[in-house]
Amino acid sequence: MLVVGASAGIGRSIAAVLSREGADMAVAARRLSRLESLTGELEGVAVPIELDVRDEASCQRGVADAIERLGGLDALVYAVGVASLVPLREADAERWREAFETNVVGAALVTRAAVDALSASRGRAVYLSSISASEHPPRAGLALYVATKTALEKLVALWQVEHREIGFTTVSVGDTGGTEMALDWDMAVLGEKIGRWVSEGRMFGRVMEPEAIGRHVADLLANSESVPVSSITPRFAAD
Ligand SMILES: NC(=O)c1ccc[n+]([C@@H]2O[C@H](COP(=O)([O-])OP(=O)(O)OC[C@H]3O[C@@H](n4cnc5c(N)ncnc54)[C@H](OP(=O)(O)O)[C@@H]3O)[C@@H](O)[C@H]2O)c1
Repeated sequence: MLVVGASAGIGRSIAAVLSREGADMAVAARRLSRLESLTGELEGVAVPIELDVRDEASCQRGVADAIERLGGLDALVYAVGVASLVPLREADAERWREAFETNVVGAALVTRAAVDALSASRGRAVYLSSISASEHPPRAGLALYVATKTALEKLVALWQVEHREIGFTTVSVGDTGGTEMALDWDMAVLGEKIGRWVSEGRMFGRVMEPEAIGRHVADLLANSESVPVSSITPRFAAD
């Protein structure tokens, strides 16, 4: 299995859970040292792969390396993602490029590099989306993120139409803590937004642990049937 975006947060937990369950793992992201420390902790076969999803050659090279070192590919997990907390009027072209290249184009390029191996194994491909892509009206403050995750979900459905031999899944994930996604956000702005999201009933009073998403993805991959769309959200905090 190949988990892209495994150097931190949810992707790291997915790789750890899958490895504990006996999968041979390749783990990819830009920060190789993080991946090397992860593979040192994993059980069985664990291969670190340096890969930047915004660079097409890097996607091709990294995925080919993973396939060669694993001797094929039965599953791909795309756990890469960036999010910014900026209003649309502040979103310049570089912000848009970073968001779409990372969350959407990167997913297409990594899948393209893996598709022959996944076809050969009649394998599976799982992509992490967000519940914010299906909220109506959408959450204030997350415009670029919501736009890219909505595009990602359609992209995955389009891959499924063209490659029926592969089982494609989008996992719509709720608010999760212990990740690096919001590290560079303005905490004052975030506090104000969280107040609004809670009052609108969009947040449930608690967040999930990345481990819960890892177990959910492992369950999806263990199911012999294809699960096109799946969702995991926190339980409500006790009153
Ligand atoms: N946290 C949440 O509340 C939440 C909720 C819903 C959905 N999600 C989704 O879950 C996924 C994981 O999010 P997270 O919260 O775990 O975020 P995170 O802790 O920031 O991890 C993001 C991962 O993406 C990798 N990445 C970013 N840019 C990359 C690039 N150009 N090339 C290769 N890898 C890149 C990072 O590795 P490097 O920096 O080492 O490259 C890192 O491993 C994302 O798709 C996110 O949208 C998260």
